[in-house]
Amino acid sequence: MPQNALRQYLEYLKNSGIKELYRPESSKTITLDKLQEKYADCTLCPLHTGRIRFVYGEGDSDAKVMVIGEGPGEQENLSGRPFVGKAGNLLDKMLIAINLPRKDVYIANIVKCRPPGNRNPEAAERLACMPYLVEQIQIVQPKMLLIVGLVAAQSLLGNTNTLQWHRENKHEFLGIPAYVTYHPAALLRNPNWKRPAWEDLQAFQKELEKLP
Ligand code: URA
Repeated sequence: MPQNALRQYLEYLKNSGIKELYRPESSKTITLDKLQEKYADCTLCPLHTGRIRFVYGEGDSDAKVMVIGEGPGEQENLSGRPFVGKAGNLLDKMLIAINLPRKDVYIANIVKCRPPGNRNPEAAERLACMPYLVEQIQIVQPKMLLIVGLVAAQSLLGNTNTLQWHRENKHEFLGIPAYVTYHPAALLRNPNWKRPAWEDLQAFQKELEKLP
């Protein structure tokens, strides 16, 4: 709708006593919500036995950027939301630093249930959960993927190379450019990695700004 017509329409609504407008949920959001509900009782791998909440993913279903982590930790298992613990707080700050508020991205993990004691998810667990992530990517259709951490990078890109190799090379997943940086939990453990992580994020931002 042209801006002038939109302004007139809003003025008309205001004069009619309408004070609030609700944006209808996008069909992508509805689809993702339905799938989350459908999969919440998943028993495809042993991780379900320790599950409190199935952590499907959340965010803007039309996001240009999808952030992909490893799997839920304790706080995520309790809340059902990805990246809400200490690592999540740092992830939020990392995103803000590149002008990308959390509300503007979609966030998901390789596995949707917490591995006991925060161990790495095993190959069979990652494999069992992968169709859920592939489906999320196909629905959201992000333009760029930001993969955080070695486990997520190796799982998604199907190799056993180092984090450095992943950071230094170009990747694609399902035809979408994929960038790898440190997991925020690793940055909390080793602050020396914050500088190279910042360089990764700046390079990512530069590519993001090139998008139409
Ligand atoms: N670490 C992850 O990889 N994902 C989360 O959701 C939380 C911590």
